[in-house]
Amino acid sequence: MKKAFIKSYGCQMNVYDATRMADLLGREGFVETGAVEEADVVVLNTCHIREKAAEKVYSELGRLRVLKGERAEAGLDTTVVVAGCVAQAEGREILGRAPGVDVVVGPQSYHRLPDLLRRARTERVVDTDFPVEEKFDHLPPRRAAGTSAFLTVQEGCDKFCAFCVVPYTRGAEVSRPVAKLLAEADRLVAGGARELTLIGQNVNAYHGEGPDGAVWSLGRLLRHLAGLPGILRLRYTTSHPNDMDDDLIAAHRDCLAVMPYLHLPVQSGSDRILAAMNRRHDADAYRRLIDRVRAARPDIALSSDFIVGFPGETDADHAATLRLVADVGFASAFSFKYSPRPGTPAAESADAVPESVKSARLAELQELLERQRQGFNHATVGRTVDVLLEKPGRHPGQVAGKSPYLQAVQIEAGIETVGTVVPVRITRAGSNSLFGELAGAAPAAAA
Ligand code: 5AD
Ligand code: SF4
Repeated sequence: MKKAFIKSYGCQMNVYDATRMADLLGREGFVETGAVEEADVVVLNTCHIREKAAEKVYSELGRLRVLKGERAEAGLDTTVVVAGCVAQAEGREILGRAPGVDVVVGPQSYHRLPDLLRRARTERVVDTDFPVEEKFDHLPPRRAAGTSAFLTVQEGCDKFCAFCVVPYTRGAEVSRPVAKLLAEADRLVAGGARELTLIGQNVNAYHGEGPDGAVWSLGRLLRHLAGLPGILRLRYTTSHPNDMDDDLIAAHRDCLAVMPYLHLPVQSGSDRILAAMNRRHDADAYRRLIDRVRAARPDIALSSDFIVGFPGETDADHAATLRLVADVGFASAFSFKYSPRPGTPAAESADAVPESVKSARLAELQELLERQRQGFNHATVGRTVDVLLEKPGRHPGQVAGKSPYLQAVQIEAGIETVGTVVPVRITRAGSNSLFGELAGAAPAAAA
């Protein structure tokens, strides 16, 4: 049996792509292994969004080179594949920088992986095409999924925010046709999935061809999926504020399956910085949008992404970001120091913010966001919420799942409850998980 080790960095799209590469390699007779030293093929599915993410790849490749040498001494071949967005951005350069690499393959051409592996027996190969053929048509059907599964509905981005590599690494925005998505969703549900998270770099820009010939929006797609048997929960990520249309907001109001959680990156609360970032909306437009979303679904939990230290950001701009956070209130958030990415417009800017200032601003922002997150979690204590149970918990006899608001929840229950939604009374909030008990369960001593 040949073995493959696949490691993914970065966003959920990469997690999805890694599962599809595993499906492909499975069809070629590989079994997946978690032990890199026994792998005949090692795939690093890389992320290029910030410098740190990209640099991780090269330190990992250094370790792999040593491992490859040790395996060679034992008479074993190892094929090292760099996939994902670093592969797309750096292409052939990777071969020069990392001598142990055999295959470089971009996110739009990984369906050719079996062929690339065959060619790699005799040469080092690079494929960073944006091919005309549909990648998804060349991938095998999805294998059994877990309780919660990702479904790629849209890829790429046409927004060109000044800091972001995505439009270059993932290419132009493309929506998959509805019929293909429904077929994939069917297989996932048949394989045990109860929650689908629709993913795309800019997923709420979805505009796929419907079976009726019309163009379907994300709102329409969600409404349709919400009506299908077996699908208990729907989520989607990640979105741009300017693509939150009325129909999508209404889907949050009308569809019980659409979870009351919205990840809507704003990046900054300063109008000047938002303009420099080419986000094409101002801070008040974001506040008004959040008001509309909350009017439709009052209990919705909000999440966002923030960048501190974008070129030219002043103390006043940073204060405006803190004000926006204080005004909106987030249940969770990701925040980053600005990292110049080669090829993006912002990387050309001269007025860089000093590293020490970036660090101080990040600490201040994260402190506020963390207080909001803890406040949100503590407010759940004493309430009864529906929990989708997904997997065994940290300790025997425990099962782990998610609240509608994407909080991790641990309860005492048998493993047979995995895959069901149960009402749970939250009794305690830890720093990263909530703890609770089945609501309405008979007291243990009653019988
Ligand atoms: N520097 C720092 N953060 C970035 N992000 C995207 N590009 C950069 C960059 N150059 C962040 C944004 C985005 C998230 C996925 O990563 O906040 O929403
Ligand atoms: Fe990048 Fe998102 Fe902006 Fe697209 S909308 S360029 S993916 S930050």
